[in-house]
Order: sequence, then C-alpha cells, then structure tokens
Amino acid sequence: MARATCLLALLGVLGRAAPLNNSSSSSVKVSWIGDAPSQNLGTTFGLPWPQGKYRPGEVDFQISDGQNPLPLQSWVTGYWRDGSIKWSAHAIPRTDKVADEYTIEATPVSKRNHNRERKRPNQTTKLSVKDGSKEVTVDTGKITVSFPKQGRYLVSSIKTSGGKTVGKDGRLVLYSQDGVPETADDRADAKIERYKFESKIEEVTVSKNDGKDNNNNDSVRALVTVRGNHTAIAKGSSSSAHGDWLPFVVRFYLYADSDAIRLVHSITFDGRYDRDFISGLGIQFRVPLGGEELYNRHVRLAGTDGGFLNEAVKGITGLRRDPGAAVRTAQIEGKALPAESTWDTRVSSRLRWIPAWNDYRLSQLSPDGFTLKKRTKAGQSWVKIPGGTRAGGLAYLGGATRGGLAVALRDFWKRYPTGLDVSGAASDDEGQITLWLYSPEAEPLDLRPYHDGMGQDTYEKQLDALEITYEDYEGGFDTPYGIARTSEVFLFAFEATPPSDELAERNALAQVPPALAASPGYIRETKALGSYWALPENDDDGNAAASSSSSPGARARAKIETNLDFLVRHYQKEVEARRWYGFLDHGDVMHTYDADRHQWRYDVGGYAWDNSELSPDLFVWQYFLRTGRADVYRFAEALTRHTGEVDSYHIGDWKGLGTRHGVAHWADSAKQARISQPQYRKYFFYLSGGDERTGELLEHTLDADKTYGILDPQRKVRTDGWKPSPGAPVTFGLGTDWAALAAGWLIEWERRGPRWEEARRKLEGTAAGIAALRNGFVTGSGSYVIENGTLLPPPADPANEGVVAISHLNAVFGMPEVVSELLEYWGDEAPAGFRAAWLDYAYYYGATAEEQRARYGAAFSGVSLRQAHSRLAAYYAVAAGPEYNATVAARAWDAFRTGDGIPESQEFVSTRVQGSAVLHPVDEAAWLATNDFAQYGLASIQNLAYIGDSLED
Ligand SMILES: *[C@@H]1O[C@H](CO)[C@@H](O)[C@H](O)[C@H]1NC(C)=O
Ligand SMILES: *[C@@H]1O[C@H](CO)[C@@H](O)[C@H](O)[C@H]1NC(C)=O
Ligand SMILES: *[C@@H]1O[C@H](CO)[C@@H](O)[C@H](O)[C@H]1NC(C)=O
Ligand SMILES: *[C@@H]1O[C@H](CO)[C@@H](O)[C@H](O)[C@H]1NC(C)=O
Ligand SMILES: *[C@@H]1O[C@H](CO)[C@@H](O)[C@H](O)[C@H]1NC(C)=O
Repeated sequence: MARATCLLALLGVLGRAAPLNNSSSSSVKVSWIGDAPSQNLGTTFGLPWPQGKYRPGEVDFQISDGQNPLPLQSWVTGYWRDGSIKWSAHAIPRTDKVADEYTIEATPVSKRNHNRERKRPNQTTKLSVKDGSKEVTVDTGKITVSFPKQGRYLVSSIKTSGGKTVGKDGRLVLYSQDGVPETADDRADAKIERYKFESKIEEVTVSKNDGKDNNNNDSVRALVTVRGNHTAIAKGSSSSAHGDWLPFVVRFYLYADSDAIRLVHSITFDGRYDRDFISGLGIQFRVPLGGEELYNRHVRLAGTDGGFLNEAVKGITGLRRDPGAAVRTAQIEGKALPAESTWDTRVSSRLRWIPAWNDYRLSQLSPDGFTLKKRTKAGQSWVKIPGGTRAGGLAYLGGATRGGLAVALRDFWKRYPTGLDVSGAASDDEGQITLWLYSPEAEPLDLRPYHDGMGQDTYEKQLDALEITYEDYEGGFDTPYGIARTSEVFLFAFEATPPSDELAERNALAQVPPALAASPGYIRETKALGSYWALPENDDDGNAAASSSSSPGARARAKIETNLDFLVRHYQKEVEARRWYGFLDHGDVMHTYDADRHQWRYDVGGYAWDNSELSPDLFVWQYFLRTGRADVYRFAEALTRHTGEVDSYHIGDWKGLGTRHGVAHWADSAKQARISQPQYRKYFFYLSGGDERTGELLEHTLDADKTYGILDPQRKVRTDGWKPSPGAPVTFGLGTDWAALAAGWLIEWERRGPRWEEARRKLEGTAAGIAALRNGFVTGSGSYVIENGTLLPPPADPANEGVVAISHLNAVFGMPEVVSELLEYWGDEAPAGFRAAWLDYAYYYGATAEEQRARYGAAFSGVSLRQAHSRLAAYYAVAAGPEYNATVAARAWDAFRTGDGIPESQEFVSTRVQGSAVLHPVDEAAWLATNDFAQYGLASIQNLAYIGDSLED
C-alpha cells in the first residue's frame, strides 16, 4: 500500500505525470518563514509553478491577505523549457496589517476576459519612479529619495511626505593604507601612506521589472542600482596618489507606502594584498538638524536584547536643578520640550553651561563586546559610556520636530569589526551618521598570505606538502584579487524622533528581514527545485514518501530524521561556540575537527574554512525545502551569501571559479568551478524572488568555461602531457567541472538571461558529447571546444576507444541535483543517450567489480564515499526501468548503512568538554566532519525521497 503511494508519486517525480490543466485558476498560499513579523515594510518573494500551467502574459496574479486584495507587482524569474512559467517573483507594499499567510491567485487571461472587472485592492500604491537625465527619483508615498547619476553621492536626499529632509549626501567612504606596522614598536617608525576615498558613481539604473510580464499595473517596488568605484580624495593641494579601486554595486529597494529603504551593498577586492589594506569601509549620511534646539536633538544607539542608549544632545535630566517633570519626560520620550518659558528658570537661565555632546562612537571590534563613547567636540577627550556584548547595529540621529534617520546593518556584531558613528550632532546645520561595515578603529583588513610558501617552489614539493597539511599551495595563487563581499543595510526615515520601542521593532526587521515562502509540499509538487527531496514522513503537508508511522521502516526513517535535525542544530551551535564570525568569514563553517585539541583545524592547511567542500550548501537548502524551518533558512542564507562572494572570484583571469577549502578563503591554489557551483545559489535565488545580487553572481560563473583555456585544474597531477592554450579545446572533468558549468548554463536557460541561447547550446553540445563517449560519464574527462560548445573524447583517447576513470568527487558537488533537474527540464528532448549515460554512472559506481568489468572491461579504482553515492543507486532504482527496482533500492540502503561515511552505529550526540583543555566549554562531536555533515545529509534526504519505503527497520 505504502509502496503504491510511493510509486505513483515517483512516476510524477520522474516526469511521466499527465499534462496539467493549463486553463484553470489556482491559488497558492505563502506564509512567513518563521513567526509573522511585527510589521510588513514591503517584501519580495518567489513562487514556483508546475510545467505547462501558465504562460507569461496569459496569467493574472492577485494577492489577498485572507480578507482584502493587496497591491501586487509580479514578474517572471524562471521558465520551463516550453516557455511556461517556472518561477514568478512578487512584491507587496508596506501594509498596515500583517497576515500570517497570503493567497496568490493566478487567473488565466484570454483576450476575451482581458478587460474584465478585477477585484481592486483598497490600498492603492503611490509609488512613482522618475528616471531623469541627472537623477532617479522614487516617491513611495512616505518618502521621496533622489539618486544622482553622477558625482559622489549615491543618495542626494531622503525627504518625508511631511516635507522634511531627514537624510542627504549619502556616500560611501573608504580608508586604506599601503602597509601595516608589524609590531607596536613599528608604529613609531613605519612609513605608511594612508589614503581616503569616496564613492564615484559610474552607472545608475532602475529595475525594468515594472509592468513586464505583468498585467497588473500596480507598481509596488522600485530597485535602483548604483555602480561605481572608490576614488581618492585629494590631500590638500596634491592630486590623488591612488587610482580608483574597490568597485561597488549598491542596490536600493523601495516599496510603496514604506519609509524604509533596503540596501544591498557589494564590493569586489581589486587591490594588491600587500599594498592595499582596507582600514575603514562605510556608508555615510548627513542628517539636517538646523533650527532644532540641542535639547530636542536625539541620539539612539541599539544595544543588546532590544536595548537602546537614549540620549539628547543636550540633556536636561540629572542636573542639580530640575527643569520640571514635564520637561524631563518630554526629553526622555524624544518629544519636543515645552517652551523654555515654562521651565524652572534656574535651569532655563543656565542652559549654556550644560555641555552638548557632538560625537558618539560605538565600536564592535569583536563578536563578544562593544564599546561606546562620546565627546563634546574634536580636541576634547572622549567620555566612556558603559558598553555591552553584542550591539543591535542601529543608530538614529534626529530631532523631535525635524525628524531623523536610522541606519541599521544586518548581522552587525556577526560581521565585526563594525561600528556606528554619530558626529556633528551639536553643529548648527547638520549631523552625520556613518555605518562602518569595516571599522576604522580595528586593525586593517589583512589579506596577505598567512605563510611565505616555505620553499614550495615545484609541483613535487607542493604535492608533498599536501600530504601533510592537506593544503594545495602554489605561489601566486593565494590571492584575494577578485573576491567580493555583500552587506545588507536598512535606512528608516522618521517625521519625528520615534519611541525606542519602534526603533527596536525596526531593527528586529533589519536583522532578520521577513521573508515569505510557499509551503514545502507545494514547492515539491511543482518540481521547480527538483524531485530529489520529499517531505519528512508524517508531515501534514502531504508527502511523496508518506506512510503511517507503523509502516515498515518507519522507525529507521524517524531515526534518520532525528540525525538530520542533530546535524543542522549542531552546526548552528558551532557557529556560535567557535565564533565563526567576521566581515569576511561570517556564514562559512570549518572543514574538519581536531579531536586532540578539541578544536576545528582552523590552522591546518586544507582542513580549515570549508568553502562549500562536498556541498553543505545543498544539504542545508534541501533540508530547508523539506522542513520550511526558519533557523535552517537563515543558516543557509548566510552560507550562500558567504560562499558565493568570498570563496569565488568575480573579476580577473579566474572569474567564475572558486577556491578549495583552506586557512584563508582564497589561499588554496585549487581554483575550481566546483566551489563556485551555481547550484549552491539557485535555491536562494528563486525563493527570494530573484535576489539581484545572487543573479549577478550566477552571471559571473557563465565565463568559468573560458578559464580552462588558461588554467588546468589537473595541472599538478596530469600525466598525459596535455597543456591548456587559449582558444584550443580544453579538457575538463565530467564530474565536478562539467556539473558546475552545466548548472550555470541551465540556470541561464531557465532565466532566459541574455546568454541563454549560448548556454543551451553548450548544455546540449556537452551532454550530447558525454552521451557519445564510449564509456559516457565513466570516461572521467573530455575535451571541450569553447567556440561551438561541443565535447570530444579526452586527449588520452582521441579515437574514443573507451577510458575508465571515475572519481569519488565527481558526484558530490551538485552533479546528482544538476543532472536530475536537467533531465526533467529536457523531458523527451534530452540529447539521445544522455539519460542512459547518467543511469549507467548511477548504477555502476556502487556495483561490484565483476559487473564493472563486464560492462566496461575494467573495474573502477578509487571508489569511496559509498554512503554519499547511495543516492545515485536510489535514483537508478526509481528512474531506470518502467518499474521500481527493489534490488537496486536495497543495495542503495545497504551502501547508505555500511558504506564509508557516518557509520550506522554512530550515536548522533555531542559531548561536553570543559576545564583547562578548552578555551571555553564546548559541546563537541569529534566524530563529525563537514564532508559527512553534507553528504550524509544529502544521501538521507534523497534516499528517503526516492526509496524511503524500502528502508527496513
Ligand atoms: C480544466 O479546468 C477547467 C476549470 O476547472 C475545466 O472546466 C476543464 O474541463 C478542465 N480541462 C481539462 C482538460 O481537464
Ligand atoms: C476593503 O474593501 C472591502 C470592500 O469594499 C471592505 O469590505 C473592506 O472592509 C475594506 N477593507 C479595509 C481594510 O478597508
Ligand atoms: C571601476 O574602475 C575600473 C578602472 O577604471 C573600471 O574598469 C570599472 O569599470 C569601474 N567599475 C565600475 C563598477 O564602474
Ligand atoms: C566543433 O569544433 C570541433 C573542433 O574544431 C570540431 O571537431 C567539431 O566537429 C565541431 N562540432 C560542431 C558540432 O560544429
Ligand atoms: C534492476 O536493475 C538491475 C541492473 O540494471 C537489473 O539487472 C535488474 O534486472 C533490474 N530489476 C528489475 C526488477 O528491473
């Protein structure tokens, strides 16, 4: 019975379902990931659709909060092969009420009913965008924001609907120096040049989503993208001594009816690591304060747990004489004080003797503590203010009558060293807020290699060193040139100083921006993110592999679920216990544990930062897909933001490649496509409604194939004498290399991006090439012709007589996900023989040596990660024949239980270690490494989805 349910679902899984009814309306619910937020300031989300359901331009989307329709802006982010909508993106404006869930209704539109009466939302949006020759202006109805098209200011003004300008002259600031003192002593002698830079705008564009593929003309969201460089600000009369550098792209998201602006700020490091030390990186706004009495000006700085430092620039509380309770209360509440004439004259006559506090500084130089201080003006000493552990990351400056501006950085303390400066609060006309993404109070960002090479000047020596530290070193390859980092910032405009409770609420939204998603069951049904995962058993949402808890194997399946839960919780706890935080590091995890030191091997070559080794990104995203858990989503999001930016190159010769795991994220000499694997970005990209920065990272990987013409990933171990030369056919692996390229091409095709036809041609050419190889995927590598996108036999076997070469790594960097999605995408248009080639690989990897010999003439050598590969056999069991192959399913579970990986006997527990053996008490799972975290996770999820019913207790 259970088996029958499973089979029916799986037939659907593998693309043999009946065609969908594409003429009907349907409705889909989305709900907040985690708890509903206290406010909705406007949001964007993605929604998948089954193949053939709706075509762009032939469907009308509407959204309702359960009672009333809301304004909705809709566009398409992904298409099925037949041109039907695979992913739509939707934006809703700020709303007064926050519903727990929303219903999106899709209605086919034909010419006949095109002009039919629609349910109009009560709320009409007033969002207007003017794209002029000199500036872009966006009016949300609550704020009007101007973005100049040239010059230094990204934002020239932020004006409230009440007509108050609360922010202006928004620019980026950067400090750098050409050296760092090596000792405290050196500081006195070192001749170090210091530079200051500010933003120089090169391009400003406005999103073209508005109205495209959208029959609903409500414009809900505006996206303004500003690109440029940091340009030196001349010192005195001398001209700038440093060229433009550190290119940036800042995306501003504004929603109808909202006073908030979300910024996605990205930089790419294009400096020299030994000459360009970043010593401060910030975003600065001026806040007009002219005409506001000093006692009506307010500074608010977020502390810990929703707390705030609440101060007036000129405080009238705690004085020797009392101005009166009404006066004190007004100041504490941030309201305009009663007329001075009503105060106790013993105070009002002596206001000039009360110091005004001009400057405030909050510095979060470690994830464990922040300091605070203030001063009356430059030249006077700072006065310490009691600090705390982890600052909230928001600063407000403004007046009780003039209004003000709040600036918040997401993950403020996790991104240390960060800071918030308020300056000029007591000046005549305007103060200033600077948000430091990298605090100038900290030591400069040091991107130099962490060792000098230790004489590893030949491949032989480098390979020998790899034997001991597992680091794959090569001089010149340990460069950060081309890595990037993205930060998320929020701006809030206020007509008057808001209550600090309101600021706390806003900051909670900035720290964990609310996100909407469809249910796991619905996403699964559409197959828009593949068919290789299913919901946990007994999930109410309906599950392909669902069966009652008393069914055979239920206990074993429940045990796997418990184990998966342990894994994701343990890693979240390790982030905190091991302080995996920092401007560049936040989001990543470590690779392997050192049980002797009770410490991750943060300092041992190839065992340190994980850089997506064996695909933890895929595990956490698929785990989110099947559970919908908010903690998992946030963990996955931070991981994606890190690995896509810091671990990959975005400019230069290696653009599109990533760096293998190591002590520094860019240290290792293995620059590979498997690390920048676009599949790692795909889940977040579509779920977020096409996050534009992630979309740009996906574009960067489209040129990864060109790198093979100048850089051979196999250069240190190649024995066939092949050498790359630009333009000539290149060789690459059919596992990690091709799977990464194919993922990028498939996504470009799905998105119908500017290069989608080229991408499809390359996909078809290489897949047909693999199919034409005598041994298909088992050939191991092929010769790729960049110009025509075809794949020929490898240089070692030009006549295609059949090479037998597999690697345990081929299928653990996204290949199973990419190939199964690709086969579903192609349907019956897949290049002939390609599906069979994949099924062969899936079957024979884990087959006996005799079977391998019978099929290929040789047994495979180098088979390992058998637990990880059990999911290939599971796929084969459901996909190969017209019928479920129980023999292969049983073999898959056997490999899962007894293969190398995490042994079945392993108890998923951690052990407390405390006392002098550790820096501070930790709960360690010394048996666990990230390779196993990722691959046990993926094998579990996919085996449960494909062959869950054949698991025996
Ligand atoms: C599709 O759905 C519509 C509305 O529910 C129904 O009238 C129609 O008969 C269906 N068509 C097919 C082919 O199932
Ligand atoms: C929206 O309009 C509908 C119908 O006109 C009305 O019943 C409903 O109360 C309105 N809702 C709000 C929030 O004004
Ligand atoms: C930054 O400047 C460099 C060198 O002048 C230029 O090539 C690049 O296009 C600029 N980047 C941006 C984002 O404008
Ligand atoms: C692609 O180019 C290669 C090398 O020039 C050639 O051998 C092959 O026939 C070409 N294939 C197609 C489909 O044009
Ligand atoms: C299962 O697959 C194996 C390997 O291809 C095959 O020999 C066997 O006949 C299949 N069994 C069924 C029931 O299809």
